[in-house]
Amino acid sequence: MAQNGSNVTRRQFLTYTLTGVGGFMAATMVMPMVNFAVDPVLKKSGSGDKVKVMKLSDITTEPKRVDFKKQTQDAWYDFEETLSAWVFKNDKGEILALSPICKHLGCQVSFGADPTHPEQFYCPCHFGRYTKDGVNVPGTPPTKPLDEYEMQEKDGFLYLGKPVERGA
Ligand code: FES
Repeated sequence: MAQNGSNVTRRQFLTYTLTGVGGFMAATMVMPMVNFAVDPVLKKSGSGDKVKVMKLSDITTEPKRVDFKKQTQDAWYDFEETLSAWVFKNDKGEILALSPICKHLGCQVSFGADPTHPEQFYCPCHFGRYTKDGVNVPGTPPTKPLDEYEMQEKDGFLYLGKPVERGA
């Protein structure tokens, strides 16, 4: 039934209105769920971000342990994690930042902790050893070199990203 020259009947008006309101209500319920499920996949990972850790002028040939905090995203969660790196210059003057996580079973390595091998990284858990540049010593439990941090030098400071497996 059209009234006052309008081409929309009462039935059509109710159909359009209820469809519109129903669609809006469905969208308000469904969109947060879709966003929750898809958002972390589409978001750029924060793991590529680097953190300022120390002055370049403080880096010597003697490995120094540096602890730093980094904002990390793990799927749906953002959290701050504390990381460590052994930072030094190698014989060529190149800066290395090595992860202290032993590649055998994940204990923490230290530089010069074994008095019989003062120029190596040592893991006390199973007597694992690595040369100064982080390469695993054959005949000791670790079978891979220590991971190396992504790094960047900028404005006189060293920035570190995430540890990366060598040769990966
Ligand atoms: S965890 Fe390092 S040697 Fe086993």
